[in-house]
Amino acid sequence: MDAIDILVNEHRHIERVMDVLERAVEYGRGGGDVSPVLFERAAHFLRTFVDGSHDAKEDEVFQAITSRGLLPGAGVLAALSAQHTAGRELAAELSEAVRAVTQGEKEPEALFTLSERYVRLHRGHTEAEEMRFFPMVRRLLPVDVMERVRAKFARIEATHGPLADAADALELAFPLPVPTVRRPGSVRAHPWVGR
Ligand SMILES: [Fe+2]
Ligand SMILES: [Fe+2]
Repeated sequence: MDAIDILVNEHRHIERVMDVLERAVEYGRGGGDVSPVLFERAAHFLRTFVDGSHDAKEDEVFQAITSRGLLPGAGVLAALSAQHTAGRELAAELSEAVRAVTQGEKEPEALFTLSERYVRLHRGHTEAEEMRFFPMVRRLLPVDVMERVRAKFARIEATHGPLADAADALELAFPLPVPTVRRPGSVRAHPWVGR
């Protein structure tokens, strides 16, 4: 598994959290009771594991490219970096909105709007990385440089802990709603209520 494989693998785990957020928005807008705690936990994941760990690893890739004087072309690095900044700002806004909604200063719609914007940004960003940027990195960086980048990833991981485990914990705490198959007499409380 090289440095790019690690990043692609992390994308799959981050997407599970995007799915949780997306379903929470859908459920909340449909009149369901979604606890702000879900958005608080998600914002923590986005700040600690997406910004603090995944994007930090990608910054190492950016640096490996620029320090060798390589230009992947058409402002790709600038565009991806700007999206990392936008994601960081949206995650901070989501944290602040959780506080405001919890204290009754804002309606839950504020959480839904920010989450939706984050999910949209992240999906477009991930696609750009996987379709255009990562193949370029593999062509531009020799194996020994990729190995050094991977070693730097390990140091970042040691500070933050595994992103996959954090995604697991979030998904387990707020499982996606299972399509209800009504059996006579069965009443199933929604897993997001009351947390
Ligand atoms: Fe990225
Ligand atoms: Fe990424």
